[in-house]
Parts: sequence; C-alpha cells; structure tokens
Amino acid sequence: MTVENSRLIVNIKSGTVDVEEANLTEFEYAAINCHVTNVADGHARQKQTRSQAAIIDDLPAVFRESERTPVDELEYRAHRAFFGMLGQTGYPAEHKDRIFACYASSVAMEILARALATEVSSLALVHPTFDNIPDILKGMHINLVPFEEELLHGGERSRVEDLVQSVGAVFITTPNNPTGRVLGEKRLRMLAEICAASDAVLCLDTSFRGFDPRAQYDHYSILENSGCRWAVVEDTGKLWPTLDLKVGWLVTSANLNLPVGKVYSDILLGVSPMILTLVRRFAEDGTAGGLVELQKFIAENREIVREGLRGLDGVTHEGDEVYGSVERVFMERRSSSDVWSELADSGVYVLPCHKFHWARPEEGDTSLRIALARDPENLALSVRRIREVLERG
Ligand SMILES: Cc1ncc(COP(=O)(O)O)c(C=O)c1O
Repeated sequence: MTVENSRLIVNIKSGTVDVEEANLTEFEYAAINCHVTNVADGHARQKQTRSQAAIIDDLPAVFRESERTPVDELEYRAHRAFFGMLGQTGYPAEHKDRIFACYASSVAMEILARALATEVSSLALVHPTFDNIPDILKGMHINLVPFEEELLHGGERSRVEDLVQSVGAVFITTPNNPTGRVLGEKRLRMLAEICAASDAVLCLDTSFRGFDPRAQYDHYSILENSGCRWAVVEDTGKLWPTLDLKVGWLVTSANLNLPVGKVYSDILLGVSPMILTLVRRFAEDGTAGGLVELQKFIAENREIVREGLRGLDGVTHEGDEVYGSVERVFMERRSSSDVWSELADSGVYVLPCHKFHWARPEEGDTSLRIALARDPENLALSVRRIREVLERG
C-alpha cells in the first residue's frame, strides 16, 4: 500500500480512492495493516485483560462446549449474558423468533434495511452518524431525511412529531458515533410514543452502549410498553479485542410486521456456535467487573489524547460528558483531509470526519476522529505524531 500526498490514497485493496470521496471504511482499510499507528477504526485493538486472556487460553474448551450444545441454547446463553451485562433485562429473551444473531452489526443493518424497504420509502436518520448506515439504507433506495441531534435531544415535541409524521421510519444511533451523544430515557419514551402514534418504525443502533453507562437503562421495557413498532441493532464487536469474532444482534418488536426472518434466511443460517460461546464468556467477564475496567481504560486513553494535544492553537476537543471509544479533535484552521494526508505520510491513520456528516459533509471538514480502544503506548505515539503535524500548521 502506498499513500500519495494531497488528495489521493493509492491502492487501498484495489484501485484509487479520492480522499473526498472515500467512505469511512475505505479510510479504515488504509489503516488496518499499520499496527502501531492505526487509530482509525473503532474496533477494539487493545491488549486483553488478564481475565480475557484466560478465556482465550481456554479456547479448546470453548470449542468443545460449542460442539456438543444445541445452537439455540448457545444463542440464548450468549444474549442473556450480553444483554444482562448492559442492563437490557426487558429484551424479549424467550422469543427466539425476535432475536437474530448476525456475523456483524452491518449484516444486521443490511437485513433490517432490506426488510424496511418492503414498506418504507423515507426514513429520518440521525445526523451525523457512521456512514455505512446511510449507505446501506440508500442502497435499498430509502430516501433519507436528516434528524439533527439538536432536535433529537432537545427539540420541541411538536417539531419531532412533524418530522416523524413525514417518514415511515426513524433511525437513531445511540450512543452516536462519532459524537457520543446518548438518547436519554425521557427522549426515548417520547420518541417511541410519537412513532407509535404515527405508525413509524423506530430503529436503534446501540453498538457503542457498552462504553457509556448513560446508555444502559433498559431500553427494551420502554420500547415494549410504548406499543410502537421497533427494531434494535446490538453489537459485541466494539468492546473486546477478539480479533473481530463478534455478533451483531437484530432484535424486533412482536408487531414489527416486516419480513425480517425471511430476509435473514436469505442471507445466513446463523453465526458460529463457537463465537456465541466466546461472546457469553466475555460478557460474563464484563459483568464480573470487565465492563467497568474497560470504561476506565477508555477514560485514561482519552486523557492521553487530551494531554498530548493540550495547548495547540485552534485545536479543541469535546466536553467532559463523552464516554465512547473514540475522541474527536476539532481544528479551527485545518482541513481534515489535508491533515489526514499529512498524517498518512508519516504513518499515522485517523479518520477525517466529513463522511459522518452524511447530509452536509462540509460540517465535518475540520474534525478528526481518533480511536481510543488501543494500547496506551501506541496511542501516545500516534498522538505525538498528530501533535507534530498540527504544530506545523
Ligand atoms: C454505530 C455503528 N454501527 C455499526 C457499525 C458497523 O460495525 P461492523 O463493522 O462491526 O459491522 C459501526 C462501525 O463502526 C458503527 O459505528
């Protein structure tokens, strides 16, 4: 892989990609072979904790248990452990026809989008958010309307009602990527009521909720009680350094009345039983203290970034109320594409933020996203190089 200066990334897997045009995953491809200074993708790449490493050392037993246990029992144990760890006790645990285990949350998203497209022609999607969500929805020819975070979190009810009445579905990433904003309990209840009243499908992507205790109130009780039609994408993939062995779950309301099961069966039979057992074991470890330890680890890494960039003229970060595994850096006077290119030349890979702003990319033109789920030494090295580039102005 080579990287040319200015606007072109050359030969990311195949062909040539323009920095302005590449989607976020293409930027992540560029970073993936760069083990030390890849702070681009949001996957967990830190070292395992001692108790996580003990689970990996026990992989032969994990395999044997998975071989001899019925898959639906393994699925049940895995989602009980994972949803329980995250406070989601109201999920429909006993209804296996409403819980779909997928290889990844993107696959869950693809299935949901295909099912939505059989009925829904326009959808209000939180803005900004990770670009593969709008890309998958657009791939199903669903027309997207931005649901601005300000309106979502603090706008008047009547304005939210107006928006929801104009679409067939609403899609919210909470905690959001990259902003880290969380849909609070009251706002979720309000949104679910509004969706119920206008028969709009309420969809949530909660892939990042493990990092943020504010996103761990029981969403499912609220959704179930609201009577709205809903679907939730959950993800084990962002939390643990399991080399991308992960599960994306798609959970649906009883009244969703979309062909999710049919679309699922068009795409997959199920995820590996061994991964289900692995997820269960990591979730049990999370409940036994691993999740709190992870949150502390991310907070310390956030401080490495903030300390490392402190005092740079025109460079700022979010306030203290962010807990996600990514940190955004705002630059008053630099374009994120130019900074990305300079950093890539020096072997450091971050994400420029313009593509998160899927409706108005220019709003992300001066911010970068740095992944925090990395070893502190590697992160510190990346931050030193980022500082050098930003100091050069
Ligand atoms: C909010 C959100 N949902 C889903 C995904 C897709 O995850 P995966 O690549 O594991 O399918 C991402 C990727 O970063 C994401 O940020």
